[in-house]
Amino acid sequence: MLNMTETINGLKRTNYCGDLRKDDFNKEIILTGWVQRRRPLGGLIFITLRDRTGIIQLVFNEEKNKTLFDKAYNLRNEFIIGVKGVVKLREDNAKNDNMETGDIEIEVSELRVLSQAENTPFEILDNITTSEEVRLKYRYLDLRRPEMQKNLIFRHNAVRAAREFFYENNFIEIDTPMLMKPTPEGARDYLVPSRLHEGKFYALPQSPQLYKQLLMLSGFDRYFQFARCFRDEDLRADRQPEFTQIDFEMSFVEVDDVLDINQKFLQYLFKKTLNYDVELPIQRMPYREAMSRFGSDKPDLRFGFEIIDISNNVANCDFSVFTNAVSNGGSVRAINVKGYADKFSRKAIDSLTEFVRGIRASGIAWCKNVNNEISCSFNKFMNQETLDDIYKQTNFENGDLLLIIADQKNSIVLSSLGALRVEIAKRLELVNKNEFKFVLITEFPFLDFDEENNEYVAMHHPFTSPMIEDLEYIETDPSRVRAKAYDVVLNGVELGSGSIRISDPELQSKMFDLIGLTKEDANEKFGFLIDAFKYGAPPHGGFAFGVDRLMMLMVGATSLRDVIAFPKVQNASELMTNSPTNVDNSQLNELNISIKK
Ligand code: AMO
Repeated sequence: MLNMTETINGLKRTNYCGDLRKDDFNKEIILTGWVQRRRPLGGLIFITLRDRTGIIQLVFNEEKNKTLFDKAYNLRNEFIIGVKGVVKLREDNAKNDNMETGDIEIEVSELRVLSQAENTPFEILDNITTSEEVRLKYRYLDLRRPEMQKNLIFRHNAVRAAREFFYENNFIEIDTPMLMKPTPEGARDYLVPSRLHEGKFYALPQSPQLYKQLLMLSGFDRYFQFARCFRDEDLRADRQPEFTQIDFEMSFVEVDDVLDINQKFLQYLFKKTLNYDVELPIQRMPYREAMSRFGSDKPDLRFGFEIIDISNNVANCDFSVFTNAVSNGGSVRAINVKGYADKFSRKAIDSLTEFVRGIRASGIAWCKNVNNEISCSFNKFMNQETLDDIYKQTNFENGDLLLIIADQKNSIVLSSLGALRVEIAKRLELVNKNEFKFVLITEFPFLDFDEENNEYVAMHHPFTSPMIEDLEYIETDPSRVRAKAYDVVLNGVELGSGSIRISDPELQSKMFDLIGLTKEDANEKFGFLIDAFKYGAPPHGGFAFGVDRLMMLMVGATSLRDVIAFPKVQNASELMTNSPTNVDNSQLNELNISIKK
């Protein structure tokens, strides 16, 4: 509600458009807003007036006030006006159930035009077909659309609820620098040249990781921040070059404590903003289980189609595609698209094959049972016994479609089946964006083997603690070591991740060793941190949620761009202001930078 302090050419706004109801009958009110639509109808003109709360109908009557009527006649879409009038009830046959204010209208007695507007390049409505490029070029107009207003106001409310949660749970909000030394989050840095230190650069934070750990060493115990982060990486629908994290860190905690805060936070946030009950405890799943059942460390649990290993069933058949995969250390695995066989023609299966080829699998073997008639792409290569064995293992019955992928690399089998189950659910329209299926993925591997460069890299970041019980393998079989690292996943999207950190300097230097950082490199990059640990570090761990992703899922959007006021596009440019852009030579000279031609 408004506190009636705003004055517009002598008119003081009393209400928002969308707030008025039947109960306001006969009240004299003053509104301001944008002309959504003008509809002349004989001696009447109807104007739909819009502000951030919604729309309401204004009526101008020629008989009652000709001058005012003529003034209203000249209004055009998107003119900004102030009006004084009285709330009237609409006749029953004039009510509009599609409008929240559809029972009433405003009989206007005074009209001020506060700003005129040219024709906009697209209509200010939801569900427009205008290309996103045009919408982003005129983002200030796009943001006038109710859908975008709703999304950004939702985001505001969610951020507010999140802050409340962290304040109530004793977290202290602290800002960390934007100009800093590069962080080791694994993406490319955005660099900022220094004018005062010729030839040197700051990096924009990929995350406040190191600062938040240092705050634990300083004794702040529980820290949080809405952190702006910058990463120069290939963009996708769920990635932006600059994005926001709810970043937090806690001292004297173990994995369970951090996960518990995470789930309580989600429960609080969803209740407060969507009135949705997140049931606790949120299901947990170790990384290895997620990979073998769903082929992904961010499984979408809104549908089934779990991956089933049939390597043992086919190891001795005559189909070399299967046997070669198994004998060369790979595997043969299947998903049973239960009950949907009739939805997949040969052509549809061919297009699924194309789909998995896009993710490095060489093809799909399949079996289909429609009306108890089985057709199978590989039955000529094996005897009935083996076939029956596969059917039994995969619970293949009438109505089912079995999709099988074999490869000498397990990672290819798993990732392609993982992507396939998501694609199939999409094609079958099985996903409901109003259903929220959370899962906490735990026990991530400590190290990841980078095949391209033939070296181990930290799977999370190099400050993540290994699981103590796995430490014995750290020299002999590093890939077996699991980390105290975890992710929160919602509907197949990684919402956030975190870990318990290494607080023992000796273990930290071993970690640097493992990932091939020499002592000198480590000192050059993280000397300040290594020094800091010498003065004592409490055991600590933390987490960061991607706010943009969280908002995207909560409002049911499919792109981060729908929940960010001024986002960037795929090639990292911003279409409205046209950035990045050239700069003056004088600016470059000051920085001692010249552009290579
Ligand atoms: P991580 O790198 O996993 O962890 O990032 C945490 C979360 O931030 C979001 N996110 C992004 N959102 C939009 N665009 C991007 N380019 C982008 N990159 C990441 C994701 C992701 O899960 N410092 C650690 C956290 C910790 O260990 O405490 C970190 O930044 O939702």
